[in-house]
Amino acid sequence: MAQVNINNINLAFDDTGSGRPVILLHGYPFNRTLWGSQVSALRNNFRVITPDLRGFGESEAAEPATMALMAQDVAALMDALDIPKAIIGGLSMGGYVLLSFYKQFTNRVEALVLADTRPQADTEEGKQNRVKQREQILRDGMGLTADTMLPKLLTPETVSTRPDIVNHVRNMIMNTKPAGAAAALMGMATREDQTELLQQIGVPTLIVVGREDPITPVQDSQLMHERVQGSRLIILEDAAHVSNLEQTESFNGVLKSFLRNQNGREATD
Ligand code: MLT
Repeated sequence: MAQVNINNINLAFDDTGSGRPVILLHGYPFNRTLWGSQVSALRNNFRVITPDLRGFGESEAAEPATMALMAQDVAALMDALDIPKAIIGGLSMGGYVLLSFYKQFTNRVEALVLADTRPQADTEEGKQNRVKQREQILRDGMGLTADTMLPKLLTPETVSTRPDIVNHVRNMIMNTKPAGAAAALMGMATREDQTELLQQIGVPTLIVVGREDPITPVQDSQLMHERVQGSRLIILEDAAHVSNLEQTESFNGVLKSFLRNQNGREATD
């Protein structure tokens, strides 16, 4: 693990392998270990950077933690690592951050991977739920969040037959600092609707979603696929929200083939 001080916080990250840079942004309430299997799959051909977004993992928590600020942290990390441009992927909240990054730093994105995410802002009801969750987390810690989120993050089959995945997800949630989760909940509640941005996306885009994802359902990915010109949509069977963990092999296969095409583009550009 490495650390940089950027935007007045210490940000933790892993920087593994060599080649074209690929940055992967985790969802809520996870951390950079979400991407362990993808790092292993890519490290021989790419430089893979996985930050703990502000408030998560070993990064410092700070208020506010808007999607825009988290995106600015990623840009500052790229500056610190001397990376002008990268292929960037984000899962769920990581995707919200990535769309904000694209809006703010369009020229620093070579290609996008939008996994189990959506472009829309929260509904009024969604915002109110975030406020309630925030109060509950600050009062009682992460336990209830782990119990209520797990059945939405993973399919019933995974929950009953894959203790390794269940434990990984539970540990990520339980190791999240309540202050960091609380700040990110407000960040997600106040995030901008990025639906209009989709038509302006002019870089290769891969969209991946678990068929059984109840948090960012398949329709959200279909909407992104319709709006992002030339995008590729892959729906992974037998996966819910954390599709990169539940269907690691398929997810990695799709990701590697997309990234290989990006390497091809560079060679022929
Ligand atoms: C995530 O996985 O990042 C969150 O579930 C997204 C959300 O709550 O909107």
